[in-house]
Amino acid sequence: MQACNLQNLPENYTMRYYLYHAMTWPSLSYVAEDAKGRIVGYVLAKMEEDIAPGDEPHGHLTSISVLRSYRRLGLAKKLMLQSQDAMASIYKASYVSLHVRKSNRAALSLYRDSLGFTVQDIEKKYYADGEDAYAMRLSLK
Ligand code: ACO
Repeated sequence: MQACNLQNLPENYTMRYYLYHAMTWPSLSYVAEDAKGRIVGYVLAKMEEDIAPGDEPHGHLTSISVLRSYRRLGLAKKLMLQSQDAMASIYKASYVSLHVRKSNRAALSLYRDSLGFTVQDIEKKYYADGEDAYAMRLSLK
């Protein structure tokens, strides 16, 4: 997963953070493999730990990516749906949240057009290079 993430995104994580996800919420992260068992895509997800007063338990999509030559095959959508199903059925999440770069047209289309997420907010300079993020949400109820 880490190798796939390093190839696809500038937002990278320590091995410890992957293990934290896997050990704490083992049913929320998934991989897509090719015929030889090589990882070609992943979704890394968790339950939100700092819930504001009045807010409901909800899942958070930490990261998703698919290797270039395996894109537009429906893998990301399938990975997202598997994780969302587990958030709702196992952890009773009422919604799932995520951040995405304003310029990331492919991911925005996946979230908004294909999965039904809506934009909740714009977080100014969310990313290390100064780009703004859309904070998006999808109800799981
Ligand atoms: N342009 C327009 N729409 C797109 C594109 C694109 N390039 N890619 C996906 N979509 C939309 C379409 O609606 C598509 O449905 P369709 O093929 O029937 O038209 C739908 O999303 C589902 O597409 P998938 O095939 O499931 O998506 P894919 O497996 O190609 O993965 C992803 C999409 C993850 C965004 C991929 O392009 C990628 O790895 N990009 C680089 C990494 C990245 O940006 N990750 C998201 C960062 S934000 C975050 O992690 C929280």
